[in-house]
Amino acid sequence: MSRNNEFYESFPHNESSCSSEVPLISLDGMCNPMRRPIVVDQIANACIRYGFFQVINHGISQEMLDGALSVASDFFNLPSQDKAKFYSPDIHRPVRYSTSFKDVGAAGQARSWRAFLKHYAHPLQEWIGLWPQNPPLYREKIGEYVVEIQKLALKLMSAITESLGLGQAYLSDKLNEGMQVMSINWYPPRPKDAPGIPQHSDYSCLTILLQDSPGLQILDRGSGSWKAVPVIQAALQVHVGDHLEVLSNGRYKSVVHRVTVRGEGTRISIASLHSLGMDVKMEVARELVDEHNPERYRRSSFRDFLNFASSNELGEGTTFLDSL
Ligand code: SIN
Ligand code: FE2
Repeated sequence: MSRNNEFYESFPHNESSCSSEVPLISLDGMCNPMRRPIVVDQIANACIRYGFFQVINHGISQEMLDGALSVASDFFNLPSQDKAKFYSPDIHRPVRYSTSFKDVGAAGQARSWRAFLKHYAHPLQEWIGLWPQNPPLYREKIGEYVVEIQKLALKLMSAITESLGLGQAYLSDKLNEGMQVMSINWYPPRPKDAPGIPQHSDYSCLTILLQDSPGLQILDRGSGSWKAVPVIQAALQVHVGDHLEVLSNGRYKSVVHRVTVRGEGTRISIASLHSLGMDVKMEVARELVDEHNPERYRRSSFRDFLNFASSNELGEGTTFLDSL
């Protein structure tokens, strides 16, 4: 399914505008049968309108969120030689540190300005032994955080599949046996106007993000303008990823987003990307295919994404969804 060439060209990419409309959903009462339909409806509307929403009352304590951000910051403040132990350009590695300060785009400008630590996280016991041991609290603080985020991802996905008419348990087992990849991002003070991350969508089904300061922007497909995502105490940001777009046969589109960080401060974000198992193919839900809605995407796995990203045979400016 090719959409991105025409998709990117058709958006004027206006400067970011008013962000008060970015949906904010309270998950309080999601288990209450009276309230759940309201929450499911809010989630469905947000997925259709933006492919993105923020959640509050998600059940993860402020202390745990702060602990994860703080130990992430401690990692990036380590001496370079400690971080370099994890350095690798190979995107197939389950734990890797890298930077992209020198990535120069066609216009001669830095296209991204961040360092990141990526690692697999679920099931925790399989991966935690490979994570950094320094800072000393890294495994404990990130470990407790990823377990809670995995539970939240399952909860959100049950509401999403329900909203698609597929039932609450449609993807539960596959998602619970699937991959959770953490991408911990550090944006240090930067040259004027260098973006943090250029626009992209995530390959995942769902991404749940924790951010410590402003910078994230989402593309509003309706108006073609960028919306700055406001930083709200205790809120987490939920992105529809490419594989949910596939499952829903395009009813929910993955959100195109970018980070543009201004000013002198450092920004940290922790993204948790949830997808099916490495070799389990995501495919369009049969229930969402009929004579008016033909199947719009080819099936693909997380490994297909990795292979695509490491070769990118379609060339600059194309995305994983273009290949499906
Ligand atoms: C990402 O899109 O991978 C990171 C987003 C962020 O730092 O807010
Ligand atoms: Fe992203």
